Amino acid sequence: MIRIQVPATTANLGPGFDSCGLALSLYLTLDVGEPAEEWRIAHDLGGGIPTDASNVIIETALSIAPNLEPHHLKMLCDIPAARGLGSSSAAVVAGIELANILANLELTPERKVEIAAEIEGHPDNVAPAVLGNFVVGAKLDGEDFYVRHLFPDCALLAFIPKEVLLTSESRGVLPDQLPYKEAVKASSIANVMIAALLQNDLKLAGDMMERDLWHEKYRAKLVPHLKPLRELTKANGAYAACLSGAGPTILIFAPKSEGENLIQVMRNFDQTAKVLSLNVEGNGSTIFS
Ligand code: HSE
Repeated sequence: MIRIQVPATTANLGPGFDSCGLALSLYLTLDVGEPAEEWRIAHDLGGGIPTDASNVIIETALSIAPNLEPHHLKMLCDIPAARGLGSSSAAVVAGIELANILANLELTPERKVEIAAEIEGHPDNVAPAVLGNFVVGAKLDGEDFYVRHLFPDCALLAFIPKEVLLTSESRGVLPDQLPYKEAVKASSIANVMIAALLQNDLKLAGDMMERDLWHEKYRAKLVPHLKPLRELTKANGAYAACLSGAGPTILIFAPKSEGENLIQVMRNFDQTAKVLSLNVEGNGSTIFS
């Protein structure tokens, strides 16, 4: 049996909107079973997720290799759906890996990122889902540019509200245009964040993460928990709290020594939310056989 494992991802990290992403230690796991008459994908994720060829994993695989022989598949996924943790990117990457294996395509990691970014529209989630760790990318007129780098050692805590937020809704509140001066300022904040991360300076990077001008303020009305949680976690020693991707999950970056206390603080803040302590996933999508 072949097993495909694809990690969750957090995108943006504040000002790195549609560009920065980090792979996390939650996974979509796809077991590739025997050939069959028809495609079937078994899972326990509930009625909203198709179990036939209309599942996004199979659709993606067939869009790359239309003549694939149907197989029985089994999916396990601990990446919560529609929470801003890259569940749809993980499904797309799993579909690419499935096509790659069953059709012997010998896709390079670069080609996988290219295909996935084309499908998703931007590289921020898919690039770290394929490559692991921290990836800064740009998709420019169909060309992909990206740099993978190690992420500084820290506690990574996810505050996952029980309500879902669809990416389409969260992108729907963004403006069509930004005034030139505001865009220059927004870009300079992102530049300093990246430079600080490359120097392992999480204090400065965290300061920049919380000054995003691209998207968080427009999304604030959809994620009213961001502001109070940011104040609370900051007061308890965090470097930063950012909207994870399009939300509603908030990702908290903190010194390792503060992790345990912050988990408790966030659990007390909202007992209906899930609070997880995560690690950076260094490897990206992986095949076990
Ligand atoms: N960068 C994207 C966003 C991530 O914030 O909308 C979700 O696709």
